[in-house]
Amino acid sequence: MDGGIDDALALILALKSPELEVAGITAVSGNVPVEQATINGLKVVELLDRSDVWVARGLGNPLFRDPIRATAFHGSDGLGDSNLPLPKLSPTKKLALNAILETLASSKRQSTTIICTGPLTNVAALLTEFPEAREMIEEIVMMGGAYFVTKYGFGNETPVAEFNTYSDPEAAKIVFEADVPIRAVGLDVTMNPRVQLTKSDYDQLRNRKGRVCAFASSILKNNMRRYGRFALHDPMAVAVKIKPSLFQFSNFHAQVETKGEYTLGMTVADRRDWLPDDRLVGRSVMVCTSAVPKFKQFFLTRLTAA
Ligand code: RIB
Ligand code: CA
Repeated sequence: MDGGIDDALALILALKSPELEVAGITAVSGNVPVEQATINGLKVVELLDRSDVWVARGLGNPLFRDPIRATAFHGSDGLGDSNLPLPKLSPTKKLALNAILETLASSKRQSTTIICTGPLTNVAALLTEFPEAREMIEEIVMMGGAYFVTKYGFGNETPVAEFNTYSDPEAAKIVFEADVPIRAVGLDVTMNPRVQLTKSDYDQLRNRKGRVCAFASSILKNNMRRYGRFALHDPMAVAVKIKPSLFQFSNFHAQVETKGEYTLGMTVADRRDWLPDDRLVGRSVMVCTSAVPKFKQFFLTRLTAA
């Protein structure tokens, strides 16, 4: 997680969902510097009284590039400039990659899902430094990319590239080329207005009691005032794991552009459906093609549940 507003909402959803056993969280450089992303992860874990979940400070920069930030949208603290109190909890002293590897190795089922809601830097580093991790990962569910599979599926950081894959395209390329199953939730579905928070959703949230609703409404306040709606990018990736029936996926061969002058960070899905599979370029990825509007009610019900 890279410490933004939707990362925090996604983490609340994950920690409030009994279907998931959350082992740990690694912060990564993205929306905000990794130090701030770590603090924001700890704020949510503390908010939900889940000190059983470790939070590790991950990589502080993309693999080969300078970081880009999204503080104009997420606020300088990553949480809508809500400036909530610093957490009392501290991050684990373990290195993030070691913490992930230990969790993968100790998982009884030997099949753990990694849900990515930021740039893929930590996961790419893990797969590179510890190739043995690959067979311990059941799948990677990532919020990232834009696959042009719906009319919303174009870029947000550039005309063709989504923020997470644009922030660290080399990391995304490594993950896409690794032999680990991927389910990708891109802007194709998250930018559909029918699954975005509206002002009336926010007003309902704002009037609910409880510290989680108070936290959620405080981190959403500025964006709601400014834009009147909010895309639930990261919560959607978590919801895929909790309630897959809310989503549809199709298989595409896809690859990540790491050299383009105009297309850097673009996730290029091969849509030439008249060609046989062996002529398509890129590796096979399950790309989310739709999310039912019921997703939003599912998210809000979980968020506001006592
Ligand atoms: O493009 C949206 C993604 O970039 C989300 O994960 C948001 O938190 C930012 O990281
Ligand atoms: Ca994010």
